[in-house]
Amino acid sequence: MEDGASAETRRRIDRRGFLTVLGGATLAWPRALEGLARRLEVGGAADDEPFWAVVRDQFLIPDDRIYLNNGTLGPPPAVVVDAVAEHARRVARTYPPGVAWGDLKAATAALIGGEPEGFVFPRNTTEAVSFVANGLDIEGGDEIVTTDHEHIGGLEPWRMVCARRGAALRVARLPPTPSSPGDLVESIWGSVSPATTVVAVSHVTFTTGTVLPIAELAARCAARGIVLAVDGAHPPGMLQLDLALVGGDFYASSPHKWLLAPQGTGLLYLAPRWRDVLWPTVASGGWDDRTLGAQRLNHLGTFDESRLAGLMAALEFMRALGPDRVEARVRHLRRTLRAGLDEIPRVRVVTAADEGLAAGMVSFTVEGIDPLDLQAHLSRTGNVRTRVISEYGYGYMRLSTHVYNRPSDIDQVLGLLDDAARTGVPSRPGKG
Ligand SMILES: Cc1ncc(COP(=O)(O)O)c(C=O)c1O
Repeated sequence: MEDGASAETRRRIDRRGFLTVLGGATLAWPRALEGLARRLEVGGAADDEPFWAVVRDQFLIPDDRIYLNNGTLGPPPAVVVDAVAEHARRVARTYPPGVAWGDLKAATAALIGGEPEGFVFPRNTTEAVSFVANGLDIEGGDEIVTTDHEHIGGLEPWRMVCARRGAALRVARLPPTPSSPGDLVESIWGSVSPATTVVAVSHVTFTTGTVLPIAELAARCAARGIVLAVDGAHPPGMLQLDLALVGGDFYASSPHKWLLAPQGTGLLYLAPRWRDVLWPTVASGGWDDRTLGAQRLNHLGTFDESRLAGLMAALEFMRALGPDRVEARVRHLRRTLRAGLDEIPRVRVVTAADEGLAAGMVSFTVEGIDPLDLQAHLSRTGNVRTRVISEYGYGYMRLSTHVYNRPSDIDQVLGLLDDAARTGVPSRPGKG
């Protein structure tokens, strides 16, 4: 993590940066964001509650709502909703449509690293992973290594391509509570064989929020000529990220999660060697013009450009907050939550305690309580939104913390969980 002074300098420069990008545009949201950025210029330590109260005020989340499911979908701040609406109105008023690709790619690279020309903007991680799986020349006899903690969005495109091409899928078993990054690397690497051509894994798992050591895997894959395709649905907007340092061949993500972009906003980053050779899944004009590089994959026919206007606003909102301050706040809230969970009898936290292995999510079980009953109980009694990880039969309750959460949200949910663990919860109506 960089020191406070240089992060502060970078934020000031960044703010001038987006004014240059958007200066002269006849849009209202950049000016609104500029005002907010000025208010947020100073402060923002992980426990600076007045600062984070200003941030919370930027969201449309009702005051009595405790939203702890950013891992599924991030609620966009008002400025993002306004950017979407403003773009939709411009289209309705017959202004010429069009995406400012250069600005959008530059803003994306400024926030999460990588080279602007490597970015493609599908609708979500599922589509981004599909672009990769369908765009590679997978052959019968190839082996694709994945894990038993992948989301369907990061897994099914590979399962389908295996079924279609006669390739094999090998599923590495990850320890749900790893004791070190090396644990995770070894469990994946144990499934790699001479026939492995692709390793397809999450950067942060949806099951437990475990952070995988992608840079180490990328180095091992590169040394063996294996393609590393990363399902990075979660890290952008949760972790400070530099895609150039993360490595690997492809990085797929869903900015509508932690980056707080509009629903239906995806992202795919291609390492330089793939930009002119990956087969586009959707073919439109220029699909075979290799001089266009990764931009060939942005030729998708007519689509809803307003979500990309919203993505631009979300990227600038995040830059105004500062990725360093965001990650520190996300971790601070998750640590508080986890410390409280550790105090509750019959709660077993699955997510590793080590800061290097976890970030914005925590998964746990409560002995003797069905997680779906617990979820319904929290929703009914506290207006709390959670996620149950039923996949693979894990049965975890997962909570995500983000910048709009307040310490009072965490206190309230811990109180409800403590009561539930001590006295039990009713079964869901209609449960057999
Ligand atoms: C790790 C991971 N990959 C992929 C996805 C699918 O994301 P999307 O529905 O945006 O395609 C999710 C969604 O929760 C996820 O957590």
